[in-house]
Amino acid sequence: MNDEEVSAKELRARLVERLTADGHLRTGPWREAVTAVPRHEFLRGGFFQEVAGSTPTAWAPVAQDDPRWLESCYEDVSLVTQIAGTVVPGDIRGRIMRAPTSSSTMPGLVVRMLEELRVDAGHRVLEIGTGTGYSTALMCHRLGEDFVTSVEVDEDVSVRARNALGHCGFAPNLIVGDGLAGDRDGAPYDRVIAACGLLTVPHELVEQTRPGGVMLVTLCGWLYSSELARLTVHEDGTASGRLLGGHVSFMLARPHLPPPLGLLPDLDEGDERRAVFGADVIEDWNTRFVAQLAAPRAQHVVLTREGRTEHLFLDVDAGAWAVLREHDGRWTVRQNGPARVWDAIEEHITRWRGAGAPPLEEFEITLTSAQPTIGWPGL
Ligand SMILES: C[S@@+](CC[C@H](N)C(=O)[O-])C[C@H]1O[C@@H](n2cnc3c(N)ncnc32)[C@H](O)[C@@H]1O
Repeated sequence: MNDEEVSAKELRARLVERLTADGHLRTGPWREAVTAVPRHEFLRGGFFQEVAGSTPTAWAPVAQDDPRWLESCYEDVSLVTQIAGTVVPGDIRGRIMRAPTSSSTMPGLVVRMLEELRVDAGHRVLEIGTGTGYSTALMCHRLGEDFVTSVEVDEDVSVRARNALGHCGFAPNLIVGDGLAGDRDGAPYDRVIAACGLLTVPHELVEQTRPGGVMLVTLCGWLYSSELARLTVHEDGTASGRLLGGHVSFMLARPHLPPPLGLLPDLDEGDERRAVFGADVIEDWNTRFVAQLAAPRAQHVVLTREGRTEHLFLDVDAGAWAVLREHDGRWTVRQNGPARVWDAIEEHITRWRGAGAPPLEEFEITLTSAQPTIGWPGL
């Protein structure tokens, strides 16, 4: 072993201890996988680090020859590996202020998801979002490469993952394409896991999971509160399950990204009333999740007009919007379009609070079409 491999082995042992102490890593086979799989091999191209205090967030590259590189690969953090759909760390010297599009997810979340997936030897797994290939490698170690298929939408990302996996001795079935369509040829799968956030659960993924099989997905909306959900697929082709809690964030599946805002509506139109809740109600993660259930396609935009802050909730496709303004501690809302966005949000939050504001892990999910029905018991 060279010096780098010796250091990496020690760092991996420390990571295993930390993930075990945090309660993410719970079972022997996954502990062995994290002990064995070298995460740094999946980050040879470097990663982007957030520039502290930058708004909007700026990212600076950290290359493989940077003294911080190896240790960072074994910290329990997500490491961004691609920005704006094409830019990799080797492409730039300074900073870039665009949105991340691929990353190595934080190991704590990767292993939590693998544990929650309830995988057993002999299971065939379909992963959506190969990314660097690190999570794919953990599954190859645990199950064997013949039992793992992973779909990545971005060809360059997939090629880099294939190389890193090959370097570690793994050759799973890697597919370049839209993972939301699954892998009809390899179906049915025992387990399906999405490493990117979903707005809806595509029926293809449900159809490609065998009855009794388990899907683990992160359900998101455009207000950016998201949660892991575990769904069991039934004989009749429906699925049901629970949210798992824990405030999980993921980059959205590319086809589920919000549409451009386009021209903003005239915010002086529509009807105004006193608001029951101000826009600050969504600062709380759980309340935001509930609001998002009422308006899953609303985007939140903070604007300043004539020196005053305004919170716009805009559903571009429906052409519906609500704008909230605060004056002397009182909130007003002005709404327009075919649906009343803030009425729906207030009504949903009021019912949830009326039921005692149950935590998200008590929410039940049923899936009879792509749009899951999500709610607390008794809703
Ligand atoms: C958070 S990363 C995956 C992390 C990965 N599991 C790892 O350990 O490195 C999410 C990945 O999902 C990919 N992705 C986004 N939308 C997708 C889609 N519709 N189908 C397949 N992959 C998608 C992105 O390109 C990105 O590489």
